[in-house]
Amino acid sequence: MTQQSLFIIKPDGVERKLVGNIIARFEKKGFKIVKLKMLTFTKEMAEEFYLEHKSKPFFAELVSFIISGKVVAAVIEGNNVISTTREMVGTTKSFEAAPGSIRGDYGLGVTNNIIHASDSTESFEREVNIVFK
Ligand code: RTP
Ligand code: MG
Repeated sequence: MTQQSLFIIKPDGVERKLVGNIIARFEKKGFKIVKLKMLTFTKEMAEEFYLEHKSKPFFAELVSFIISGKVVAAVIEGNNVISTTREMVGTTKSFEAAPGSIRGDYGLGVTNNIIHASDSTESFEREVNIVFK
């Protein structure tokens, strides 16, 4: 089923010059890039984007990290893109993420885990309205 998803290369991924490599992975997989931009999150955007985590102990750290530098956001499209992208990204804690996944191949961090990807159609709709407003 053709769907769309959103991914965001976080400030650590941009800082480490992983942008081209990460975009290439999704293109090679067969997904189409529908929208692409570089931006810096404002605090207001970040707090809205991560609203589901507002009560978590790591919320403040998460918000300050995502606004700490430029990010690259993309809307991609293709068959089953939401769950396939999550597989390609890997589990949240980069040090546990499977080799072959983006987090598994490039990082060790938890807050700084290189990339975000929408986890459902509902999340995608909500997130795209914040990032590509
Ligand atoms: P994402 O939303 O970024 O794609 O990542 P995710 O679904 O794998 O992880 P989620 O549970 O939604 O958490 C969002 C982001 O919060 C940071 N985090 N820190 N310190 C901690 O225990 C902790 N847990 C999560 C990560 O940056 C995670 O991507
Ligand atoms: Mg998430």
